[in-house]
Amino acid sequence: MADPLDLRDYERMAPGHMSEMAWEYLRGGAGDEHTIRWNEEAYQRLRLMPRHLVDVSRLDTGVCLFGRRLSHPVMLAPVAYQKLMHADGELEMVRGAAAAEAAVVLSSFSTVTLEDVAGAAKTPLWFQLYIQPDREFTRGLVGRAEAAGYAALVVTVDTPVLGARYREQRMSFALPPGMVQANLKGLATATGDHRPKGQQIYSAVLDPRLSWKDIDWLRSITRLPIVLKGVLNPDDAARAVEAGASGLIVSNHGGRNMDTVPATIDALPAVSARVAGRIPVLVDGGIRRGTDVLKALALGASAVLIGRPYVHGLAIGGALGVCHVVRILRRELEMAMALSGRTSIEQVDASLILR
Ligand SMILES: Cc1cc2nc3c(=O)[nH]c(=O)nc-3n(C[C@H](O)[C@H](O)[C@H](O)COP(=O)(O)O)c2cc1C
Repeated sequence: MADPLDLRDYERMAPGHMSEMAWEYLRGGAGDEHTIRWNEEAYQRLRLMPRHLVDVSRLDTGVCLFGRRLSHPVMLAPVAYQKLMHADGELEMVRGAAAAEAAVVLSSFSTVTLEDVAGAAKTPLWFQLYIQPDREFTRGLVGRAEAAGYAALVVTVDTPVLGARYREQRMSFALPPGMVQANLKGLATATGDHRPKGQQIYSAVLDPRLSWKDIDWLRSITRLPIVLKGVLNPDDAARAVEAGASGLIVSNHGGRNMDTVPATIDALPAVSARVAGRIPVLVDGGIRRGTDVLKALALGASAVLIGRPYVHGLAIGGALGVCHVVRILRRELEMAMALSGRTSIEQVDASLILR
């Protein structure tokens, strides 16, 4: 096959560059995988309504998040176990992110320690936190992320248990020898990966008791901005603002948890309306085109995150692949801005979407 030109090419080529187990793990979702499909289809249903005769000879894709300027709004979502896709795993991923000037959210379940990733990172890093049933261990993890220079904590709130992930089960998912959940070293309850044992629905490294009280607790032990990832319901969004969250990520975990929850771009407008600009709202899931990024920004997102696409890049071309995937999206976003008469992200508003 010729060199990949767009994210579809990357997706088509990716299975040839990792084990069958890694591919099934990466592509998979919950149940019948309707939500995975909807995440993409919902973008395709939205129609763009451009303005013309605007001087678009200069474009600015910059955005500002938590006081930090990013040269574009495409961030890398937390994806666990990246050594399954590249020998250097998350280290290689952050090298690619640096070349593409993309901010990164590192998974709690990375296969390289958060300290080593921070040592290699040259773009803003946020840490995705799975609050552990062992709160003292969690406190230590938060302290480590602060000490290593992470700029925000992204607490995943949509995973008290995993969804029905039959692709993982069919493959008897297990980390190969030598690959570990590097940040969980010393956690007595860790079982080696995220999968529940036997017929259980509860995982040893996820906390089914997690509640709003824990967000208060987390605020009391850290000065870092707390971003809640996995919010779909506007009532939860309102509650998050009250609870002192600094940001939200509208996400359905890439369709991996509960099948038939709505596409994230369908959930975004109500969340964004309820938050009413008090804190930034980000979105992930199904973003494969620059026009998708434009639509998310138009419907109220301050930035977007991509998951599977950059991992395809990582598997196929290492840091170069990650960088290329982000650059493709950024370039497509620039084209879409120019073709819709918007020269800056502030000008991207709901009037771009045909009602
Ligand atoms: C293989 C894989 C592993 C993931 N691991 C995590 C994780 O450790 N923590 C988390 O909050 N989200 C995790 N996610 C969800 C992503 O952060 C993100 O919400 C999702 O991938 C976005 O959808 P997209 O893949 O369509 O871009 C994972 C997703 C995939 C595909």
